[in-house]
Parts: sequence; C-alpha cells; structure tokens
Amino acid sequence: MRGRLLLAGAGVVAGLALVAPRLRGTTWTEWLTKAAWSWAGVPSGPLGWVSSNWTMPRLHAPIYPVMAEALDLRSDDDLLEVACGSGIFLAEQAAHVRHVAGLDLSDIQVGIARRRLADRIAAGAAEIVKGDATALPWDDGRFSVVTCMGSMEAFPDPGRAVAEMYRVLRPGGRAVMNIGERVPEGTETRRILGAAWVWSEDDARRLAEEAGFADVSVSYRPSSGEGRLAAMSRLAGQEELRLVRGVKRP
Ligand SMILES: C[S@@+](CC[C@H](N)C(=O)[O-])C[C@H]1O[C@@H](n2cnc3c(N)ncnc32)[C@H](O)[C@@H]1O
Repeated sequence: MRGRLLLAGAGVVAGLALVAPRLRGTTWTEWLTKAAWSWAGVPSGPLGWVSSNWTMPRLHAPIYPVMAEALDLRSDDDLLEVACGSGIFLAEQAAHVRHVAGLDLSDIQVGIARRRLADRIAAGAAEIVKGDATALPWDDGRFSVVTCMGSMEAFPDPGRAVAEMYRVLRPGGRAVMNIGERVPEGTETRRILGAAWVWSEDDARRLAEEAGFADVSVSYRPSSGEGRLAAMSRLAGQEELRLVRGVKRP
C-alpha cells in the first residue's frame, strides 16, 4: 500500500514537473479555459454531443450579438462563417442576408447546423459544409462577408485559415474575426499545452495583415450575456472580445 502511494506521489510530481514549465505566465483561469478548449476544440463523441448542444451555445451566447453588430450585414451580403459550430449565428442572421454558408470540422456540429438551417438549405439560401478552415472548399471571391468567432484558438495553423478567409472574399469584401480576447499588456503569443492559442494584440493584427487584408483595425467589445456559463466565461478572462477587421481591396 505504502509503495503504491509513493509511486502515485512520484507520478503526480513528475506530471507537474512536465506541465509546469508550459504554464509559466498563465493565470489559472486562463489555463482552465484553454484546457477546456483543447478538449472541446473539435467536438466528437458523447461529450462532444453535450458540448455542441448545450455548453457551447451557452458559453458563446455573449459573442453573437457583438459580432452581429460589428458585421453590419446587408440584404445583398453572401456571408460565410468559418468554424460555424452548430450554426446558431448563421440561423440568426440568415433572414438579413442573401445567402449564408458555414463550415466546420466536427461531424456533430455540422449535423446540428444542417438541421437548424434545413429550410434555408432546401430553399438554396444556405449551405453547411464539413471541412477544415485551412482549406476552404469555395472558389476565390465567393463571399462578400466572412466571419469567424470563438474558434480560431483551436486552429493549428491560424495564419493559413485567415489567408483562406481572404481568398474566398470578393474584392471590396470585409471580414470581422474574433481573434481571442483582451490580454494583459506584455502577454506574448503562445499556444497553451500545445492546443489553444493566446495572441498578443500585435500578433492578432499581423495575422490579418499577413493574409493580405487592408485597413486592418483591432477593437474590443465587452462580452455580455445572461446566465452562469456566460458569467463563467467572463470570469475566465473573456471580458472583452477582440475583434479584428479587414477589407479586401478592390
Ligand atoms: C467553440 S466552437 C464555436 C462555434 C461557433 N463559431 C459558435 O460561436 O457557436 C469552435 C468550433 O471550431 C471548430 N473547429 C475547430 N478546428 C477547426 C478547423 N480546423 N476547421 C474548421 N472548424 C474547426 C470546432 O469543430 C467547433 O465547432
């Protein structure tokens, strides 16, 4: 018994020694959020079903109105949401634009989004595609507006994803991307536990500029929203969403 306890203790110490250096400069709330992120990055299996149907919609409820306002959609817009999850935002906005499209890597999320938008899909006013943000299955210039929210942290290659968003935008088109949240001054861009990104403001701007976007601006919007999960996400540091906008020059 004693031997087992000693072994378990040694295991815990070894585990902490491995993980601790990667957590330097990370607050515990930030760590918890990002650890949850790495689990829920691309939902699958029974836990993924729960998170897609229940947790994520509640955690992300504060983001949708902020993005809707920032996008300023028009009736002749063709809107793409990259990593659209279960399609809540697209379903909310579909009546305000000509066409909505969503792409997501999770079978569960794609299935829910297709059911949510079934009427619009049948009418040819919406499409939901399973795919990777770094290889969008659309021709150059297909959309007038592109957005991505609460998702970029999970992309292994966010630069490639933003370049793809730029490619599928038509000249004159605009993008509003939620690239993380406000971070304390001096925060360096890093990937927590090799899974979830945290970006400095400069690097978030650089992501858009290097993809080719012009007139890039970075702004912050308070995260609002009712309920315990929204409050938890604020407690975990997501008090102010960081929005990066850019246009594709004609
Ligand atoms: C936290 S959810 C957000 C979903 C949606 N944007 C929302 O706010 O409701 C993140 C989504 O990113 C998707 N995702 C992660 N990596 C992806 C990738 N490389 N390509 C496409 N989707 C990806 C996941 O499947 C998941 O549905």
